Amino acid sequence: MQEIIDATELFVKQELAGAEGGHDWWHIYRVWQQSRHIASKEQVDMLVVELAALLHDIADSKFHNGDEQVGPAKAEAFLQTQPVPQHIIDHVVSIIKHISFKGGHNNGGFYSPELAVVQDADRLDALGAVGIARAFNYGGFKNRALYDPAITPQLNMTKEEYKHSAAPTINHFYEKLLLLKDRMNTETGKMLAEERHAFMEAYLAQFYKEWNGEV
Ligand code: ADP
Ligand code: NI
Repeated sequence: MQEIIDATELFVKQELAGAEGGHDWWHIYRVWQQSRHIASKEQVDMLVVELAALLHDIADSKFHNGDEQVGPAKAEAFLQTQPVPQHIIDHVVSIIKHISFKGGHNNGGFYSPELAVVQDADRLDALGAVGIARAFNYGGFKNRALYDPAITPQLNMTKEEYKHSAAPTINHFYEKLLLLKDRMNTETGKMLAEERHAFMEAYLAQFYKEWNGEV
């Protein structure tokens, strides 16, 4: 089992060489470690959790013209080169297809305790100090403003509208990041999300004070 994990780690590192800072190998590393942590308190198949965490962002649709098939297909092709039973491959690929929070609460009909763990770990990486860093990094990558008091956050945007929105990065906190704590699956995930949420609230309060020259 360890050989399979090691080979997967190597494959993912190679595939993600040169990726944007918020979606690079270190995002995968953090989600992998956090998945192991959360999984240690759940009844799950650790091989499925580790493989899904390692392979979950192998080809993000944002960077492949919106094509959501590339990632799962690449993951499946790789796993077939490894001594992994087909039912495990199928499970890992289903997790990769359904992990993204873009669809909101609805996971398109697929659910498993292993998906719950990896999805929580992926969501946690969008929160807290690291989540803030990733948001501004992504905003910079897209050449977005940090903040614009005249552009108010839009809730309930469709997926397409959201993708084409040029809203400042601060809006992303209200449109997505601050909503995540209520969507966690596991008890460990909920607890960690509460902490990171509180940290982001404090960060935003300080941000506005600095913006207005109050501190
Ligand atoms: P995932 O890759 O986990 O499915 P996303 O691709 O939506 O999730 O987001 C990955 C990271 O990029 C997160 O940290 C998220 O906050 C950040 N991000 C996504 N969209 C935006 C945006 N419009 N503005 C700022 N950050 C964003
Ligand atoms: Ni991810």
